[in-house]
Amino acid sequence: MNKRTRRLRLQDGLRALNTETVLRPSDFIFPIFVKEGISAPAEVISMPGVYQHTVESAIEAIDEAENLGIKSVMLFCIPTLKDSCGSDALHDDGFLATTIRAIKRARPQIALMTDLCFCEYTDHGHCGILNMNALTVDNDATLEILAKQALVHARAGSDMIAPSGMMDLTIATIRKALDENGFSNLPILAYSTKFASGYYGPFRDAAESTPSFGDRRTYQMSPANRREAIMESLEDELEGADALMVKPALAYLDVIRDIRERTLLPLAAYNVSGEYAMLKAAGINGWIDYDRVMMETLLSFKRAGADWIITYHAVEAAKILKGI
Ligand code: PBG
Ligand code: ZN
Repeated sequence: MNKRTRRLRLQDGLRALNTETVLRPSDFIFPIFVKEGISAPAEVISMPGVYQHTVESAIEAIDEAENLGIKSVMLFCIPTLKDSCGSDALHDDGFLATTIRAIKRARPQIALMTDLCFCEYTDHGHCGILNMNALTVDNDATLEILAKQALVHARAGSDMIAPSGMMDLTIATIRKALDENGFSNLPILAYSTKFASGYYGPFRDAAESTPSFGDRRTYQMSPANRREAIMESLEDELEGADALMVKPALAYLDVIRDIRERTLLPLAAYNVSGEYAMLKAAGINGWIDYDRVMMETLLSFKRAGADWIITYHAVEAAKILKGI
């Protein structure tokens, strides 16, 4: 005897009708790394298929994504100049600002989201400036330069500012700075629930942002905390975030669901570097069916309640969705 659920699985058309969750290329946000001073793209060893780009090769990568229906990218820059306060990111003629302007001028139609943090720009690799004793990040001093950096992004043409540093009151501070400087229409995607995670390892190779001492546990969340995870996102909503995020995604599907049930804002899942690297490694070794596991993983984020997926798989997944 077939059960009711099974009767709807027995035929192609019925299976198609009975599909609750669908992925579209326009759900994806494609992360791009652009490095200063290189003459050709360089593949990231721990992330096969992901490159540190020149500005020119980044634009080519954006074109490839766009042709597949992907409409947004998340930009990370790696400057030559790194110092104690991340100066490159604070100037309208720094590598960050120049890169945003170049991409926006070349491809005005793409939604250019810009990661706002200091770890790529500081010589110590932390997400802000350090206390006098140089042991932890100074929250309030960092807020001041976060506001400055947000205006650098805004003036250069960012379409959405995405602060990833987990300083308290980041969203309120940036919202105020944007509003007071003529950018009240510029939205903020908050990295609102971000865990201190081992899954960021390969990203730090790509962005050259490994902290030179200590770790990020004083500002990023403990993987053990569910209530706090919900609270972090709801606080950012109250401070004025236009969209929220859970990061990493795969080990935190429960948190995606928890936040989905408590907000009406768009919710992004960041399918981070270590999640990508695991699938790649197993795929390259022939241990899993890479394409199948990738699509299943991406689907799980939407099923858990995410609207947007930031993923290094974006182009590969969009090809599959388009039947290429
Ligand atoms: C920087 C930042 C990180 C990621 C995005 N922005 C890493 C970190 O906090 O060290 C991680 C993304 C990934 O692993 O793919 N604040
Ligand atoms: Zn950072």
